[in-house]
Amino acid sequence: MSTNDNINDLERVLFNENEINSRLDELAESISNQYDKCKLTVVSIMNGSLMLTADLLARLEIDFDLRCLNVESYYGETKGSGEVFINSIRMPNFSGRHVLVVDDIFDTGKTLEAVVERINCECNPIKVSSLTLLKKKKEIKVNITPDFVGFEVDDLFLVGYGLDYHGKYRNLPVIGELKKGIIANPTL
Ligand code: IMP
Ligand code: MG
Repeated sequence: MSTNDNINDLERVLFNENEINSRLDELAESISNQYDKCKLTVVSIMNGSLMLTADLLARLEIDFDLRCLNVESYYGETKGSGEVFINSIRMPNFSGRHVLVVDDIFDTGKTLEAVVERINCECNPIKVSSLTLLKKKKEIKVNITPDFVGFEVDDLFLVGYGLDYHGKYRNLPVIGELKKGIIANPTL
């Protein structure tokens, strides 16, 4: 099976490449304006925000430093485990710097909350803000929402453009809803 066949596992496409690219242009412009006079460190949450981070940072017109954090919460399932593991024993020092945490999607918000809290507690930044490409429309129990959001989406399981199901579909150039049958019967 070729990678392109994975597109047939989508119930529907929510955002195509053009829509993603134009929204990234707008987000990059806002970020370039906001952090124009600041020392900025972008903290990218891997692996989901790999594509987003590359494409967004390529559009920035300001200087920045990049750090990547490996964070796990889903363990390949479609519902969060509720626990967030940040795979970094020693966090960097961000004193004198503004931090922008970048993640693919805001679902329960636990991932973003855990990362922002850890940076605030251990890294001494001036200010931590956050950006997610997608934000699910749902009731949340955390005290944080992203400062920049690409698209608000319904509470569905989405894949593509970095978002995966059991490690698959990250390389789809579009973002779409995974067919329910695939979630029920993963043939992976
Ligand atoms: P949260 O901690 O519940 O906000 O979940 C955020 C993390 O869960 C993201 O970084 C994603 O890796 C993953 N995630 C949440 N929703 C989806 C989805 O619809 N598709 C794929 N991954 C998702
Ligand atoms: Mg993630």
